Amino acid sequence: MLINQTSAWKALQAHWASMASRHMRDLFTADAQRSQRFSLSACGLHLDYSKNLVDRETIRLLLALAETADLASWSQRLLAGDKVNSTEGRAVLHMALRNLGYRHYAYEGRDVMPDILSVLSRMRAFSDDVRSGRWLGYTGQPITDIVSIGIGGSNLGPKMVCEALQPYQQEGLRVHFVSNLDASQISQTLKLLNAATTLFVISSKTFTTQETLTNAHSAREWLLQQLYDEAAVKRHFVAVSTNRQAVAQFGIHTANMFEFWDWVGGRYSLWSAIGLPIALAIGMEGFEQLLFGAHEMDEHFVQAAPDANMPVILALLGIWYINFGAAHSHAVIPYSQHLASLPAFLQQLDMESNGKRVTRDGESIDYATGPVVWGQAGTDAQHSFFQLIHQGTCLTPCDFILPLRTHYPLGKHHDQLVANCLAQAQALMRGRTEQEALDEMRQADLDEQSLQMLLPHRVFPGNRPSNMLVMDQLTPYTLGALIALYEHKVFVQGIIWGVDSFDQWGVELGKRLAGHILQNFNELSCSPDVDSSTAALIRRYHLAIES
Ligand code: F6P
Repeated sequence: MLINQTSAWKALQAHWASMASRHMRDLFTADAQRSQRFSLSACGLHLDYSKNLVDRETIRLLLALAETADLASWSQRLLAGDKVNSTEGRAVLHMALRNLGYRHYAYEGRDVMPDILSVLSRMRAFSDDVRSGRWLGYTGQPITDIVSIGIGGSNLGPKMVCEALQPYQQEGLRVHFVSNLDASQISQTLKLLNAATTLFVISSKTFTTQETLTNAHSAREWLLQQLYDEAAVKRHFVAVSTNRQAVAQFGIHTANMFEFWDWVGGRYSLWSAIGLPIALAIGMEGFEQLLFGAHEMDEHFVQAAPDANMPVILALLGIWYINFGAAHSHAVIPYSQHLASLPAFLQQLDMESNGKRVTRDGESIDYATGPVVWGQAGTDAQHSFFQLIHQGTCLTPCDFILPLRTHYPLGKHHDQLVANCLAQAQALMRGRTEQEALDEMRQADLDEQSLQMLLPHRVFPGNRPSNMLVMDQLTPYTLGALIALYEHKVFVQGIIWGVDSFDQWGVELGKRLAGHILQNFNELSCSPDVDSSTAALIRRYHLAIES
């Protein structure tokens, strides 16, 4: 039965109808304990979810929905290594990658931990060698620049984490990321580098992804143009992949390959050898702290009661607005420049996982699933899209993410940053009433006519929901916990919607058609199966490059 046919769902529909007429201002006035009542702490993170349009009954009904969806037994299946990614026939064991405790993780009856630990120890040896200058390039010089080539999950996670943990990076060892097929990215990156001191990490689960292989080939040509000897490739290229054969075919010695496994989904892979650029940037101790933060969040997710479970609560709040409040998007606003790439990372995690229109069994879904996830670092975000969140006609729930201490104390910057973050959440919740707007304008001595003209524009409805996620400081540990929190949130939502959160068939068609269009570039006229619009655009492209 589809989840929206259950009584738990229908109870929530009725409950939304009654909550929609209430205002969060009144909920705060009525309950002096509201902030404590709707807050949770775990793994160095504190979640204040009191600025949501919820009361205790809402949470009770949402928890009942999770129970109806059988969340507890799905979590057990995930832990047990069952093939919960049913359309690809795969287990989903990214929690094993950060299992720094004593859990037993097995796949098809085989303990996966020995392989994981062996790759971690190879990552340690290699990253220590590169960072200490023991790993020498072909001409005998130590490495100064690492270029990570990958796309999607083989890029977004390591890139976001390296930026987030920049204060922990080793001076003199720079990490660059290249993902796009647009040659301007790799060209601009390589222009600044010296091949003799550059190490390429080619990251691709399948080692067949067009973008990554094209960039990797260009990188190899660039290297050989400077070092003239195929033997140099061995000192300057390493691969991270599940596909040993394709790595060898590319010309990277498999001794220089760091392995992972098909039970690691692309967007859940930063904890595997895909995290090698992170280990190179911040050292293996830092990488292990990241794993440890995530591991502790896993334990919290697995052990905490649903009403005290941070990923479960975050997931249910999302469901509340998406399915009952008709919200189509969800904004993530980190008040930290270091987390500027977090929204992009979460876009893949959430939208590739839950952007689905059929259930695991292939039944069409007639309720909303994954929202559009978007966002930007504050305070920049305040000066671009906040207007719409405050006064637009759509409901946009927000997550504010706020490290309380900064790595770069400077004058009053951080006080101001924190004040802005808290103020935005407060303004979204409170809004500004007509009376408040009138009082403010009268204080500013506005004449009566201007005052009446401006009044509707200066009223904020408020009652706009947000979560506030704070941490003392952005560290490898708290970042690990934060990422794992969102991974589990996405999992919980997928279970409630009944979708396979671990496949991504929707990205396949475009890839296949790109191959077909590329073939048509070589023909004088397009094959008849190419539609007239695409054919005209191909002709336009030919004309542009011929002129
Ligand atoms: O975008 C589709 C996708 O398959 C992602 O899921 C994955 O992270 C990305 O492509 C890259 O794939 P690969 O690591 O195999 O190069």
